Amino acid sequence: MTQLPTKVGVLGAGQMGGGIAQVAAVAGLQVCVYDAFPGAVEKCRGVHKKSLGKLVEKGKVTQADADASLARIEFVASVEDLKSRGCDWIVEAVIEDAKLKKDLFARLASLFTDERVVLATNTSSISITEIATAAGPAAGRVVGMHFFNPVPLMQLVEVIPAVQTAPGVTERTIALATKMGKTPLKANDRAGFISNRVLMPMLNEAFYAWMEGVAEPEAIDGIMKLGCNFPMGPLRLADFIGLDTCVNIMNVLADGLNNDRYRACPLLKQLVAAGRLGDKSGRGVYEYPGK
Ligand code: 3HC
Repeated sequence: MTQLPTKVGVLGAGQMGGGIAQVAAVAGLQVCVYDAFPGAVEKCRGVHKKSLGKLVEKGKVTQADADASLARIEFVASVEDLKSRGCDWIVEAVIEDAKLKKDLFARLASLFTDERVVLATNTSSISITEIATAAGPAAGRVVGMHFFNPVPLMQLVEVIPAVQTAPGVTERTIALATKMGKTPLKANDRAGFISNRVLMPMLNEAFYAWMEGVAEPEAIDGIMKLGCNFPMGPLRLADFIGLDTCVNIMNVLADGLNNDRYRACPLLKQLVAAGRLGDKSGRGVYEYPGK
């Protein structure tokens, strides 16, 4: 039988890490979350309460299960605490910075020496093979486990084995994603995997269309929503993901696939330079006064 973890350690309490912690807890797993930024914990607790409240309202989770799930999530004060609390599966969901992630995986490898502990990364596009290499002797236990925002609602987990990942680790990742109520689908470790390789150039193209005056943002988004049944238009989705994240992913695609056709649109880069990062900064393509 495939071995499932008993306690999941999540690194990062932001949108993605917080969502991953929530779905793991709802699936009945004990969860420990660590975030280096002061204030992240309180914000994450608030997001959990709001999201679970919505799911209760919709009849997807009972109030008792929501309360029990919240009680299964513990916030800890250091990466070392994840080890002392007995976490046997780590999901890293810190910001998309290759050096930061590689340093973190080197540290995780020295802390979690037990061969059974899997070190998963939720990176959206950084090479899993390079992250695994940074984990040295633990490289065979590193795997990509890519969730989608908003994690409690999105069905997919993209599972990406590194060149070094042991086949058993990939199987266990698929089993854990299934236990979390998600549908795992496998992709190979090439820049952007499948999701962002296909999605990001489409979002980038919407910025080109806007920059060239083909249409205004509302029309671009309306055309794609109504004509292609997208839940959000491409420019609205870019704001939702974060325009800085979009630029970072385009850079990874351009460098990783050795092709300038993946370069970020100048207008997209300009908005980022102006601090217009999308929902999280209150303004991107559109304005979000309440955020
Ligand atoms: N938890 C629980 N409920 C939530 C929620 C959350 N985290 N987020 C939204 N909801 C609820 C809302 O409260 C709302 O409830 P209501 O019907 O009672 O008002 C309901 O879901 C619908 O939300 P909205 O009315 O705000 O808007 P939508 O109908 O457009 O749905 C959406 C929101 C589910 C986000 C939908 O627009 C959607 O699917 N958008 C596309 C998302 C997407 O493509 N995500 C992938 C991004 S790419 C990525 O993550 C990869 C990375 O590597 C970049």
